[in-house]
Amino acid sequence: MRTQVAIVGAGPAGLLLSHLLWLDGIDSVILENRSRDYVERRVRAGVCEDPTVKLLRDVGLAERLDREGLPHHGIVLRFDGEDHRIALTDLTGRTITVYGQQEIVKDLIAARLKAGAQIHFEVSDVEVHDVTGDRPRVTYKDSAGAVQEIQADVIAGCDGFHGISRPSIPDSELTVYDHVYPFAWLGVLVKAPPANDELIYANHERGFALHSMRTPEVTRLYLQVDPSDSLDQWSDARIWDELHARFAIDGDFSLHEGPILERLLSPMRSFVVEPMRYGRLFLAGDSAHIVPPTGAKGMNLAVHDVLVLSRAFKELLQSGRTDLVESYSDTCLRRVWRAEHFSYFMTSMLHRAHDADPFQHRLQLSQLRYTASSTAAATSLAENYVGLPFP
Ligand code: FAD
Ligand code: DHB
Repeated sequence: MRTQVAIVGAGPAGLLLSHLLWLDGIDSVILENRSRDYVERRVRAGVCEDPTVKLLRDVGLAERLDREGLPHHGIVLRFDGEDHRIALTDLTGRTITVYGQQEIVKDLIAARLKAGAQIHFEVSDVEVHDVTGDRPRVTYKDSAGAVQEIQADVIAGCDGFHGISRPSIPDSELTVYDHVYPFAWLGVLVKAPPANDELIYANHERGFALHSMRTPEVTRLYLQVDPSDSLDQWSDARIWDELHARFAIDGDFSLHEGPILERLLSPMRSFVVEPMRYGRLFLAGDSAHIVPPTGAKGMNLAVHDVLVLSRAFKELLQSGRTDLVESYSDTCLRRVWRAEHFSYFMTSMLHRAHDADPFQHRLQLSQLRYTASSTAAATSLAENYVGLPFP
């Protein structure tokens, strides 16, 4: 099989890259080791930055997002038993949109298949070869177990943090920056209406909690838990007790309980490899970098990476020029490091360590109060949260 761009991974990065290339008349093939049903059901991100939404609109992918997505004009920081609203739109003129990542993935798969794209699900043993030459190849086993080979001009490694693309690059070619936080998130999807119209980021002495949503009928809630915890330590009753305690406020507020539809445990780390390229293999999205979820940046970074990558591939494949492929990694890493810093800032401001040094805790409260009371500090949070403009 021959194609121009072989893409490993059908997450937001791989699927959107394939769509952007198609708009430019460039052919691609996507290989995904999970089933279509699995990737369409995988519950993850919920917050789309303003530039992400604008891009999806520009490339014809926002019809359902514009109908069902929930535009938000502010977020709430809850600490000291009080709410402090960060007025995102008043401060920046822009909004964020709550629309589940798996809805974007569904929209992308539908659009790609309608355009006749090749997405091979349930493949295995994907390997990349000859990436330092002009004719890279990808081999894999198809869903029936038969060995297949794709010859391509370039390969995009969009296979997430646990994929094969990054590990196939020799260690000596990459610099790794890795920071593991002493926290994890327990996330639940609940069939009950959200208790507030806006997201609530709560700093409580028992730990951080986040109130988000997916639809007017479905709430998304997260609790900071210990990284060594397992899901079986968290019964429904314990989850609700902890959520009620952490969202308690001086005044009226109560979460709406309902059946838990889905639950997940997610460790928290910051991870970046530099450069995001080895020969004709280009890394994009979580395969190259991870942020802790507190800043809601991971999927948005993946979207930015593939926008930059699609322009670079277009220039390379249609005019033979290499400027943009040469600058791809540096261009993306600038935004990646801004998001790493912002996510680190949000994480450290909002989470409580068990062995919290009282000095650290005083600093945290001071930072929260400053952010809530200074227009300059609130604007800095807001412009990072809604997303700095794409190039
Ligand atoms: P992925 O979505 O991981 O996709 C990679 C794909 O590659 C997958 O489909 C995988 O099955 C496939 N794959 C893996 N290995 C192979 C292989 N060997 N062969 C073939 N295919 C393979 N981000 C935000 O922007 N906003 C948020 O609000 C937000 N909240 C989050 C909350 C939680 C709890 C979590 C866990 C993450 C959150 N994120 C958020 C992060 C976001 O979900 C990720 O950054 C995003 O999924 C990255 O997209 P991707 O396409 O790079 O990788
Ligand atoms: C959601 C996830 C996040 O990481 C975040 O910061 C805000 C919202 C969500 O899943 O809705």
